[in-house]
Amino acid sequence: MVDLSVKIGNITLQNPITPASGAFSWEYNDVIDLNRLGGLVAKTICREPRLGNPTPRMAETEGGIIQSIGLPGKGIEYFLDHVVPEYAKFKPPLIVSVSSESIEDFAALARELSVPDVDVIEANISCPTRNSTGGNFAMHEDHTKNVIRAIRESTDKPLWVKLSPNAGDIVSVAQAAEEAGADCLVIANTFLSLKIRTDNFRPALGNKFGGLISPALKPIVLRMVYQVAKAVKIPIIGIGGVTKAEDVVEYMLAGATAVGIGYAGFRNPSALITIIEDLEAWCVERGIERVTDLIGAVKDDDMEMDTLVAASRGV
Ligand SMILES: Cc1cc2nc3c(=O)[nH]c(=O)nc-3n(C[C@H](O)[C@H](O)[C@H](O)COP(=O)(O)O)c2cc1C
Repeated sequence: MVDLSVKIGNITLQNPITPASGAFSWEYNDVIDLNRLGGLVAKTICREPRLGNPTPRMAETEGGIIQSIGLPGKGIEYFLDHVVPEYAKFKPPLIVSVSSESIEDFAALARELSVPDVDVIEANISCPTRNSTGGNFAMHEDHTKNVIRAIRESTDKPLWVKLSPNAGDIVSVAQAAEEAGADCLVIANTFLSLKIRTDNFRPALGNKFGGLISPALKPIVLRMVYQVAKAVKIPIIGIGGVTKAEDVVEYMLAGATAVGIGYAGFRNPSALITIIEDLEAWCVERGIERVTDLIGAVKDDDMEMDTLVAASRGV
């Protein structure tokens, strides 16, 4: 028997596998047993109802999908009255993702969402098609500090902060979030990207730019998780390109406590359950009794890292 449970602050996940915000909803229970997941992560919610971005919102590329959905939703009132009760029917902790363009409203939203059935507030400060003072605060450490400090003061719930892979120096942004009171860092949101159609010379997405998701991005996000894990004390959730149990192991070895999964669920809606089962089998085969033994267990003490750090830090 392997102990797959992990702790993030005072929240226990029965295993390190969670869905990624926006790529999941409670309706997945028609396909998989949601009670088997480590946590349930809701789509990012904003205050007012939003239609989302102009279509098309998704386009395929050779190496993945670019998407710019634009956070459509029915607003916070509908969310509290109708969506939270749906998630509350299941056992895993409910992580509610929230976004706003102003610091004051962000903090107010976090306060209003801090109801008993919500276990964690995840601040999505990294929506890739917003600017650094209006939603994509994670592009810069100062904006990150200001918004996270305000949210921290507005709620007693555990506060997880989703960072951007587009920031020049994600380590400084991570440290700023930790200093401002984050309980966990979620690394990362999507990579800002562009596709142009060669038949009509127009951008493929209605919103022009979109976020790229792809298994090819996993080594880049893994590198970020590794670097941030060396620089902060709070737990990290690694998100980017996880398609199999070995990817989870890699993220944990780099320092993550858990992972989030989006893309793999689009390819195969039962992927999250398969990955949980394969992770357990992987541990059994190697005599690993607690999955937490993997966290930060990469063997690299004897390796010189200076060049790599120099090549990947912002200026
Ligand atoms: C269709 C779609 C919608 C998304 N919506 C959100 C969202 O609402 N909030 C958020 O924080 N991230 C959102 N994301 C980003 C994912 O949570 C995740 O960070 C990203 O997909 C990378 O993980 P993956 O490689 O496993 O897909 C979205 C991604 C996709 C593909």
